[in-house]
Amino acid sequence: MPAEYSLSPHGVKFRLPSPKDYGKEFERLKALVRQQRSLGREIVVAMGLGFVGAIMAAVVADTEDEKGNPTKFVIGMQRPSTRSYWKIPLLNRGMSPVKSEDPEVDPMILRCVNEKKSLVATFTYDALKLADVVIVDIQCDYLKETLGNVREGQVNMADLEESLGIIAEHISPDSLVLIETTVAPGTTEQVAYPIMRKVFHKRGIQKDPLLAHSFERVMPGKQYVSSIRNFWRVCSGINEEATRRAVKFLSEVIKTDEYPLTVLDRPIESETAKIVENSFRAAILAFLDEWSLFAERNGVDLIKVIDAIKIRPTHSNIIFPGPGIGGYCLPKDGGLGLWAYRHIHGFEDDIFKITPLAIDINDTRALHVAQLTRDALRNMGRPLAAAEILVLGASYREDVGDTRNSGSELIVRRLTEMGAELRVHDPYVLHWWEFEKQDEYPSPARSLKRFFRNQERLANLHVEPDLKNALRGVDAVIFAVKHEPYLDLNPDEVMEFAGGPMAVIDCFGILDDARIKRYFELGCEVKGLGRGHVKRIKDQVREEREQMYQRARVRARIQRPRTDDRRRP
Ligand SMILES: NC(=O)c1ccc[n+]([C@@H]2O[C@H](COP(=O)([O-])OP(=O)(O)OC[C@H]3O[C@@H](n4cnc5c(N)ncnc54)[C@H](O)[C@@H]3O)[C@@H](O)[C@H]2O)c1
Repeated sequence: MPAEYSLSPHGVKFRLPSPKDYGKEFERLKALVRQQRSLGREIVVAMGLGFVGAIMAAVVADTEDEKGNPTKFVIGMQRPSTRSYWKIPLLNRGMSPVKSEDPEVDPMILRCVNEKKSLVATFTYDALKLADVVIVDIQCDYLKETLGNVREGQVNMADLEESLGIIAEHISPDSLVLIETTVAPGTTEQVAYPIMRKVFHKRGIQKDPLLAHSFERVMPGKQYVSSIRNFWRVCSGINEEATRRAVKFLSEVIKTDEYPLTVLDRPIESETAKIVENSFRAAILAFLDEWSLFAERNGVDLIKVIDAIKIRPTHSNIIFPGPGIGGYCLPKDGGLGLWAYRHIHGFEDDIFKITPLAIDINDTRALHVAQLTRDALRNMGRPLAAAEILVLGASYREDVGDTRNSGSELIVRRLTEMGAELRVHDPYVLHWWEFEKQDEYPSPARSLKRFFRNQERLANLHVEPDLKNALRGVDAVIFAVKHEPYLDLNPDEVMEFAGGPMAVIDCFGILDDARIKRYFELGCEVKGLGRGHVKRIKDQVREEREQMYQRARVRARIQRPRTDDRRRP
């Protein structure tokens, strides 16, 4: 059989392990673990080296006692699939498998792998046999079948269920299994527990698996590590021993003296806390969508309204939604709750109104940006079809390179469908895989491509690294993400780079009134999500221009002598 390879995003090819590599790899791990145990270190296996698992593994590996000695030895375990295997050799070289804007990530991984020797990565499930603690950080996706209707979707439990079975087949009955994955509420007790218990029984183990749940609140961005280590956690185990072990473990790796742990009675409460927390956030964001339209149609600047409200301490967390709510969690987590109610707990009635509505609103908010772009171009007498449009920002929030479920993706897809030619610039994103690999990323069944027509050419959409080049000759520019480098862009320069007036669409309250005014003065058209006051600024510019012309006409009349005056002797 020919060897298979896994290609890293940096373009490095790694050969997938062959069956004979497994035995050797387990021997390597056993030797390492023997040595680490003699140093008194606890053995932790982190399953799933994705955005969360890779960093959590390093945070655990970085744990020290008062004398500065590592207290844990972490084996990061990752499936050797063509898509993900590269993460293993990369981590073993001391390199982070996930790109992060946090300057702490790279040195922490390098330190743990090369200096402390407290972190390795592997592909063999046999590593689980050596674990005192297993942390589960694999994905649990929610697959939507329609755009804008979360009810028509389902949780993909297969990976998680399979992983739990594998864990039960390998671990010692005394290992703690800490599920950090965001799961459908009820999963730990009603899915994980029976799967694991059945396997334990087959293995002749009478003891219950030591299962607990504690969800991640990690935030991509500059505080990535800190959002794991220096942050409040919630946890709960399926029995007293599991809870006690989870509390002990988390207290050792997270700064629980400053950020106390909340211990709940049952795992379903910890699982529900995660879902409610994110559904709450999704709902307050969705709530502003209708007020955003109200503002656009009634001359109101929603940005200023929000700032005015925020001053009141009880309302300080009101936030402007931007062009859709992305990231991995908010678009899916409410769906996990809806699904659990029916498919884990067996209820038939429909109690959920706000949670699905919020997700549906957030999932489709970006489509309105295409309408604003169309209208702005129309006001300039330019058709949208074949217009050159630049989207500034590909990621889902400011100053991160994470493009998962970003509003910008939908903007690009809809405008392409409507016939426009799209370009993109983002200072934090090198490759926008949702387009470059749109037939396989995030998975063949999940690309948003399936909801739009005429998407084929978007496989050639490359992120333009130079803003000046990106702007050359554009008909419209869409400020889609509040990245820092976009905040101070000077309208005169933007127009100079573009080579003439263009439509300017502000999706995030990025432009202040002075800039909006300047764009109008330069002959551009401006529109923005929730920014109804731009019309007032446009009228003001028109009036000022009219007054200027009038003054010029008067001046010209005064300077030009009248014909009958000239005739006079
Ligand atoms: N990314 C975030 O910002 C964030 C924040 C909070 C919570 N979460 C939650 O954390 C969980 C993980 O999210 P993520 O962003 O890290 O996902 P991810 O897709 O980046 O990572 C999951 C990893 O698990 C691996 N994997 C799957 N099955 C495996 C198996 N059987 N054995 C070993 N490895 C396996 C995958 O190959 C992948 O590398 C999710 O439940 C998510 O909702 C994510």
